[in-house]
Amino acid sequence: MKALLWEGVNELAVRDVPDPRIVNEQDAIIKVTRTVTCGSDLHLIGGYVPFMQRGDVLGHEFVGEVVEVGPGVRRHSVGDRVVVCSFISCGRCWYCAQGLTSLCDNGNTNPAITEALWGSAPGGVFGYSHAMGGFAGSHAQYIRVPYADHGAFPVPEGVSDERALFASDSAATGWMGADMGGVKAGDVVAVWGAGAVGQMAARAAMLLGAERVIVIDRYDYRLRMTERHVGAETLNYEQTDVATELRERTGGRGPDVCIEAVGMEAHSAGPQYLYDQVKHQLRLETDRPIAVREAIYNCRKGGTVFVLGVFAAVVDKFPLGALMNKGLTLRAAQQHGHRYIPMLLDRMARGELVTEYLATHTMPLDQGPDGYRLFKEKLDGCVRAVFLPN
Ligand SMILES: NC(=O)c1ccc[n+]([C@@H]2O[C@H](COP(=O)([O-])OP(=O)(O)OC[C@H]3O[C@@H](n4cnc5c(N)ncnc54)[C@H](O)[C@@H]3O)[C@@H](O)[C@H]2O)c1
Ligand SMILES: [Zn+2]
Ligand SMILES: [Zn+2]
Repeated sequence: MKALLWEGVNELAVRDVPDPRIVNEQDAIIKVTRTVTCGSDLHLIGGYVPFMQRGDVLGHEFVGEVVEVGPGVRRHSVGDRVVVCSFISCGRCWYCAQGLTSLCDNGNTNPAITEALWGSAPGGVFGYSHAMGGFAGSHAQYIRVPYADHGAFPVPEGVSDERALFASDSAATGWMGADMGGVKAGDVVAVWGAGAVGQMAARAAMLLGAERVIVIDRYDYRLRMTERHVGAETLNYEQTDVATELRERTGGRGPDVCIEAVGMEAHSAGPQYLYDQVKHQLRLETDRPIAVREAIYNCRKGGTVFVLGVFAAVVDKFPLGALMNKGLTLRAAQQHGHRYIPMLLDRMARGELVTEYLATHTMPLDQGPDGYRLFKEKLDGCVRAVFLPN
């Protein structure tokens, strides 16, 4: 079969690889109909997560058709249309029972790396380096889905593949940020990053009753899209002073909940950017926490900062003093999609959650390396590139 492979830092190629096969009795093989790029892939492609190997198949967000099931699969049959959570978790361990499925004790078959790095290992992820299990990704014609009864969800009849695709990861991630960030009716919520994850967090905050939602980025095309499709307010941090604007729009208090949807490759207009970028590129710090710092400084006293952006290890100049003295709650997580996906699919079926507009570019898998270039460089109005492998 054809697959999009990581061939070294910023090098991608589409090549033939062996077809996946059933390994465990709870596996299913899915024929991928649509798979999409994610900001997390950019961190992997750029070499910021140093556990990729040449020839790894990328991709963790996808919809498809079940073509084979292992003898232990009960809920799916050949021919079913499913969307699959990007995280691999068992559905049975202590963490899965708490709904903290990205922390599953059994999903990562290669836990030694993250145990050494973070103290204990979270679950596995498709196409997301050997630190997260070394599973083959979804930018391929077929994929093996472990724990298929738990990780694959039937797509309701009225929901298109184009829409359901985003339940796999970005809509679930955004929903988690607003939900676990504690957004409630009447809140003012600020979101850093107007990628698909930030836009989905903003949409979730609105559906959870936030009074005002303000999304911050520097790409006008993304901000215009957020205004049009999400209905949120926006701020371009290259054109306005974010701190002043946020204070003005919140009666001087600051947002109740600040959601960071940028991650380790953040950009900044200020001089600290050069400092962070040099240290990041020399691998003297593993991450650039620019938007996390801003969220902490701008959050109202006693408010909550939720970090959705992915970070690998250590950061510099973390404003612990502001966090402590302002009495903030800081939360973060990889997405616990399994607990949200059925609800998201229902909202998609009712038309409350529209996602297909995020797919600004759709192309055959063969053009995947071009799609990633548009997505990485934010060219041609790209928010997400969707690949059609079959
Ligand atoms: N927690 C999870 O489970 C989960 C799931 C999916 C993605 N992610 C992470 O979420 C982050 C965003 O993903 P995405 O797919 O939307 O990425 P993206 O690259 O499409 O968008 C990121 C956006 O952040 C903006 N940005 C950069 N620096 C900024 C700053 N200082 N202030 C405000 N905006 C800034 C960029 O201009 C860009 O529009 C990534 O780190 C990704 O790895 C996390
Ligand atoms: Zn993702
Ligand atoms: Zn589990």
